Amino acid sequence: MNEALTLGVAEMDAIHAEFLTLLEDAKHSRGNDFLSAFEALLAHTETHFAREEALMRAHRYYGLQEHESEHETLLSEMRYFFEKAKKLPPMGRSYIDDYAFEKFHRHVINIDSQLAMFLKSEFARA
Ligand SMILES: [Fe+2]
Ligand SMILES: [Fe+2]
Repeated sequence: MNEALTLGVAEMDAIHAEFLTLLEDAKHSRGNDFLSAFEALLAHTETHFAREEALMRAHRYYGLQEHESEHETLLSEMRYFFEKAKKLPPMGRSYIDDYAFEKFHRHVINIDSQLAMFLKSEFARA
């Protein structure tokens, strides 16, 4: 994964690296494989967000609400394009090829980075 995206919290970094791998798989998939690759990315994102939300709850993170609502927005959008992709594959393709990375990147830089900073200070105090 791009160094700039590394947050220094092993669990989050591992999940983000998996996301990027699945996104690459989806970008390179063709025909019927595209929908299953998109579905795998969606399932991974559900787990990814649930895992971060569990971490936030466990550590009583101050930014939980804002972070959760960002997750909900990203996930609803991804689900919307996945449903579209079933009937109109080019719409799903354009989301995967042109938007998904940018959306993810912005979330990691702006939102996940704050959580990572908080968790690192929590871990240092433990
Ligand atoms: Fe994340
Ligand atoms: Fe997040």
